[in-house]
Amino acid sequence: MAPTLETLLAHPDGIPAHLALPAPLHCREYLLDGQLRHWPGPTQTVTSPVFVPGAEGPERALLGSCPAHDAAVGEEALRAACAAWDQGLGPWPNLAAGERLACVEDFRRRMLEKRAEVVRLMVWEICKSAKESEQEFDRTVEYIDDTLAEYRRMQDEAARIVAAGGLDARVGRSPLGVVLCMGPFNFPLNETLATLVPALLSGNTAVVKLPRIGRLLFSPLLECFHKAFPRGVVNVVSGGIESVTPVMTSGKVDALAFIGTSKAAEAMRSLHPHPNRLRCVFGLEAKNAAIVLPDADLDEALPEIVRGAFGFNGQRCTAIKLVFVAREIADAFLERFGSAVAGLKCGLPWEPGVNITPLPEPGKPQFLQALRHDALAKGARELIPGAGPLGVPGGGALFAPSALFPVTPDMRLFHEEQFGPVAPVAVFDDPEEALRAIAASNYGQQACLFGRDAARLAALSRRLRNVVSRVNINCKCQRGPDELPFTARRDSAMETLSVRDGLLAFSIPTLAVLRRGERSTGMLDAL
Ligand code: G3H
Repeated sequence: MAPTLETLLAHPDGIPAHLALPAPLHCREYLLDGQLRHWPGPTQTVTSPVFVPGAEGPERALLGSCPAHDAAVGEEALRAACAAWDQGLGPWPNLAAGERLACVEDFRRRMLEKRAEVVRLMVWEICKSAKESEQEFDRTVEYIDDTLAEYRRMQDEAARIVAAGGLDARVGRSPLGVVLCMGPFNFPLNETLATLVPALLSGNTAVVKLPRIGRLLFSPLLECFHKAFPRGVVNVVSGGIESVTPVMTSGKVDALAFIGTSKAAEAMRSLHPHPNRLRCVFGLEAKNAAIVLPDADLDEALPEIVRGAFGFNGQRCTAIKLVFVAREIADAFLERFGSAVAGLKCGLPWEPGVNITPLPEPGKPQFLQALRHDALAKGARELIPGAGPLGVPGGGALFAPSALFPVTPDMRLFHEEQFGPVAPVAVFDDPEEALRAIAASNYGQQACLFGRDAARLAALSRRLRNVVSRVNINCKCQRGPDELPFTARRDSAMETLSVRDGLLAFSIPTLAVLRRGERSTGMLDAL
């Protein structure tokens, strides 16, 4: 559907009441050392990628403002987290597992009461569709539930006695220490809590730095953290990189949970003076490819590829960011792919059935347009009429979807992560060409294969698994379900996330052993 200026402008009549533009929220509160404090310092204005009619023409809707914390707040947050950890001898890591479970359950119950508020802020702040924003909230609650259940299972496992070499052992897991958690703008709630919750449950204490975009939606949750957790266990900082630079340079952070770009992850990691003491749990960028084989069932493949490439405007680390199509079926594929992409609905996040919404990152439309121009200049053609940025005075943020063909290795779109609604399509004569290109990429998260011949799919999948971490057969790339391991190779990740892996990532195996003998049984019970 061709976008118009109207699709960038929010008119009160068209917005469901529960998602109406909230009154500006000027959040000055932050959580530090068990106190909800008032921030008297500089703030960051938060606006929406959605434009509203203003006195001098369309303008970004004002959502409010947040503290722009400085290095001193970061240092204080670290001190509080270190005190609650107290070199492993503090109250939180030594609390009985059941009591930590109770704190997380309490947080989950309080968080649930804030669903409507958080969803509304998410819709306006990052322009995720209302349906997807609700899904993000609900998936996060489900993730917490599953993590709680898995943690209970792990406690039961740890209760077993392992006999080996004349010794009896109780093997369990213990926390790492102080964790710095930094989530991304595209899944601000889910991917912050997907590392924070397992870290806390395992007995770590945390400094959380809120995402650069998508931080106002955490304001209703500050009170939940405050009420649910003891002093110093969760400390929330809201500022630029300067607020956490001293946290890293102190050398006192034991684990860095970071979801974002590999460049930013590397910059954060390199600040730590003792890298051997730092565990990195990273979810980074990717360039997931779909390989469409000559015998692919296009009825099945096309909706998967379109959803895989354009879900939340392609702003998913798992999005399909390059499509390889077999030359024999390229014409049929391109015709049908082009019309499916052209049929995506551009609009505002509360509109029913909307697919493409304004982009929250400043400068993103210009970046995507530069990638398109590079491909067009080098011989690709645009398959979608009206593709590209839709400007309004003051800067538009909606980017009408684009699909380009043929994209070749000399073009930026062949290698660079676009993280937006642009689908580059390349052609191959032999799938080996696609395999080699995926293997040569800096990124190695997932790939998908579309075809019918089971033996061929199996052979390709076997080889691809040495190149990426997950091969999706006749379905799009994705992180979930959260029971499955989510990881990647090369510059796309460090460590693994999933309900169980999250708990493993923020703990180490520890054991108490004693020589088997008459007294050992009673002692093991006490242990
Ligand atoms: O942005 C990266 C997310 O982990 C993607 O999650 O595949 O469930 O949409 P998803």
